[in-house]
Amino acid sequence: MIRQMSRRGKFITFEGLDGTGKSTQMGRLAAALRAAGHTVVETREPGGTPTAEKIRKVLLDSSTAGLSPLAEMALMFASRAQHIAEVIEPALAAGGMVLCDRFTDSTEAYQGSGRKLGSEPVLKLHHVLCGDLQPDLTLLLDSNPHTSVSRARRRNRQESKGAGRSHDENRFEQETRAFFARVREGYLAIAKRESERVVIIDARGTPGQTHSRIMDVVKRKLKL
Ligand code: TYD
Repeated sequence: MIRQMSRRGKFITFEGLDGTGKSTQMGRLAAALRAAGHTVVETREPGGTPTAEKIRKVLLDSSTAGLSPLAEMALMFASRAQHIAEVIEPALAAGGMVLCDRFTDSTEAYQGSGRKLGSEPVLKLHHVLCGDLQPDLTLLLDSNPHTSVSRARRRNRQESKGAGRSHDENRFEQETRAFFARVREGYLAIAKRESERVVIIDARGTPGQTHSRIMDVVKRKLKL
């Protein structure tokens, strides 16, 4: 019997500043896709595998002092390379839909623009370490940078006060307004350069409004 090869799945990434509601929107899209009969894997970066989650702790814990921008970029890619090998590629090969909260565009925006390392080293490392894997679609959630970053700060402060937490995820939230302004500019430049793949989603309305914008884009772009 000839076994039919399953069709390669679709890779959708969510990008944007901290606190733009990416995780909520990813959960809602995942639920809608599952209801339509798709197999969906939800994952995130940095992290997504046990080893990559250890790297996440180093990267996001505010007790990690003095990490150089280059070391930070290298750790983002170490986490990503493991995540691709262990989770993303196998799921896509099996025909699943992979929804990922952040991917290489985050490194280009945060380390490339925010930390001023430039896009070139990020794209080169992506080529070497990620086999040039590109999302089929990237949803860039855009809202007022000041409001979204303040929201992320409040949330993380509350979470790190929670019982039994030995670490926090506040290292990036301590950055300045100027840093987040550069990150946002970095994202908008990627969207301009790769306008086929990256769609800017206005995330200033209610979660319901943002979700329906996302559903329209996903149906149109991925022809679902
Ligand atoms: P995330 O958990 O998505 O934070 P939030 O839910 O607040 O948006 O990401 C954690 C932080 O890591 C976030 O501040 C952005 C940063 N980051 C980078 O700087 N470079 C990267 O490549 C990635 C994946 C994340």
